[in-house]
Amino acid sequence: MPLKIVIFLLCAIRVLGQDYIYLTTPSSFNDATNTVRTTIDEPNILESILNFNLREKVNFFLYRRKNRNKAHPILFPKERSDNQSAYENLDLSPFNPELQTKLLVHGWRSNEESDTVQNIKNNYLSKKNVNIITVDYRDIAANNFYFAPAFQIRQVGKYIAELIDYLVTFRNANTSDFHIIGHSLGSHLAGYIGAFTTTGKVGRISGLDPAILGFEWSGPDSRLDPSDAQFVDVIHTAAGSCGFRDPIGHVDFYPNGGIVQPGCGNNILDQLACSHGRAHHLFAESILTSLFYSYPGSSWAAFVRGEYNRTDMIKMGDPAPSNSRGLYFLQTNPQRPFAMGPFFGTFGFIWDTFNLLNG
Ligand SMILES: *[C@@H]1O[C@H](CO)[C@@H](O)[C@H](O)[C@H]1NC(C)=O
Ligand SMILES: *[C@@H]1O[C@H](CO)[C@@H](O)[C@H](O)[C@H]1NC(C)=O
Ligand SMILES: *[C@@H]1O[C@H](CO)[C@@H](O)[C@H](O)[C@H]1NC(C)=O
Repeated sequence: MPLKIVIFLLCAIRVLGQDYIYLTTPSSFNDATNTVRTTIDEPNILESILNFNLREKVNFFLYRRKNRNKAHPILFPKERSDNQSAYENLDLSPFNPELQTKLLVHGWRSNEESDTVQNIKNNYLSKKNVNIITVDYRDIAANNFYFAPAFQIRQVGKYIAELIDYLVTFRNANTSDFHIIGHSLGSHLAGYIGAFTTTGKVGRISGLDPAILGFEWSGPDSRLDPSDAQFVDVIHTAAGSCGFRDPIGHVDFYPNGGIVQPGCGNNILDQLACSHGRAHHLFAESILTSLFYSYPGSSWAAFVRGEYNRTDMIKMGDPAPSNSRGLYFLQTNPQRPFAMGPFFGTFGFIWDTFNLLNG
């Protein structure tokens, strides 16, 4: 037996100089491979060993422009009921079924008040007239033992899917109008929500640097995958360390190659942590600017060599077209504003400027 070297990477989620959240990542942990695969893919075993009350621990808030700074709690039934009367007291007054609904979910050791949720919420409300539903499952997400919430998001996702089905069945919403956005562990939670929705397929899921730990060896049923929504777009910013390396959406964006982001500190911990958090900052900015010009290609190396098709440029983040497929690459600035707009090489710059001026 060769000596098994277990490398623990301390992988921190850094929200631009604010909170640090640490996560121990066994990146080369041979003994754990089977354990992880078994446990994540065997939800029935997990359900029996995990005892938690979703209806107390998962809370929903509704925001519209008129109450953008004051969360409107949705008191989703605390008891399961297939009967409409149990729902009739739900005060959903700000909810408009004619509008798109952005459903925002946080990740491990985070909550609804975090930047990963609030920045995206605020930018949407300043730009678009939409319903925003935020989910708070902080009691579950707060567990320092990462694998507990990593298992429990399946049940959390099933419960959140019930809210979507309720809004579609009883409040005239359309499943296609739901766009779920989640960072890190929240990306896989978004996948579960999409997979458990029964009234149709949700319109879109945006995965922001989906967590790799515990999901690397999981089958598509146990993580975000293209079957979870009509359109799944993914932004990779700490690929292979904190975030998923392989493409798992219809379209996968790799800003700056997707592994480490510019402007992200001097030591490895800062780099990984800040890179992992960068995905949600990029997405939040993309709601306002739509200047993340991205180009299809086979790899970052090929992109850097100039081997990409400029005519197939699309924009990363919120404006990503729902028919886009494959891998896309782009450069960003090391700080806000991250978007570089039309930029890559002299001739490319001129060509993109021409396209930009011509709409
Ligand atoms: C619906 O639920 C309410 C309250 O739980 C109950 O009183 C009522 O009988 C139920 N109606 C039907 C049709 O099951
Ligand atoms: C829901 O939206 C989709 C896409 O816009 C549309 O094709 C479908 O007819 C809508 N469903 C209902 C019940 O209105
Ligand atoms: C670039 O994409 C366009 C449109 O899809 C296509 O017509 C063209 O042949 C492509 N060019 C190269 C070099 O692949």
